Amino acid sequence: EGDVISKLPLRGQKILITAGPTYEAIDPVRFIGNHSSGKMGFEIAKAAAQLGAEVILVSGPTHEQVSHALVKVIPVTSAKDMYDAVHNHFESVNVAILSAAVADFRPKEVANQKIKKKSSTLTLELEKTKDILASLGEIKKTQYLVGFALETNNEIENAKEKLKRKNLNLIVLNSLNDKGAGFKSDTNKVTLIDDNEVITTFKLKSKAEVAIDLLNKIRSHIDA
Ligand code: CTP
Ligand code: CA
Repeated sequence: EGDVISKLPLRGQKILITAGPTYEAIDPVRFIGNHSSGKMGFEIAKAAAQLGAEVILVSGPTHEQVSHALVKVIPVTSAKDMYDAVHNHFESVNVAILSAAVADFRPKEVANQKIKKKSSTLTLELEKTKDILASLGEIKKTQYLVGFALETNNEIENAKEKLKRKNLNLIVLNSLNDKGAGFKSDTNKVTLIDDNEVITTFKLKSKAEVAIDLLNKIRSHIDA
């Protein structure tokens, strides 16, 4: 019996995860998006479920799939949809891990009809989306809140600033400077920074292995 429990160290934990890009409509047939594959978030969801956690995975458009009895996938399209889905579930979870590449801006107006190419230039006015992660930092009670940071310069400094400003417990810094790390690849090189400014750097690994490292760190903080 003790054996089974030790293999499911996240049993009883409920984890909310965001993954993938968001698509922001320009008109009925076009959108602004990004190259996020969703892979990192899906690997975290799979690993967490394998460790016994109940997972709610809010995902933007992706080809990734997961079928596990403990993972409930909620597909969304836009940053607004993702914000609403996340807020519908945040109160019921112990841990939230926001790995989605949410659009920072969206078209201020969405055209009702397909935009025709009649003029030689087209100007779109964009407005900022709500920061989902920061909004959770403002309302969190006992939840352990984890964010990601994608940086190209002053990485540690910028990530620490995001951790503080968004009231996070842990931030996962993605190093884009390394070959094989980031959006489309199957590997990632991350640095974890916690709210005591303890910094842990990992080598380039598969995203599945990065997911395990991350969940181990979270476990040590929530004493699961
Ligand atoms: N994030 C979010 N909602 C947004 C934008 C970002 O929840 N509208 C989350 C991401 O899921 C990630 C974290 O915020 O966990 C950091 O995203 P990142 O793009 O690195 O930082 P930003 O705060 O958007 O700042 P900037 O892009 O200007 O560096
Ligand atoms: Ca951003």
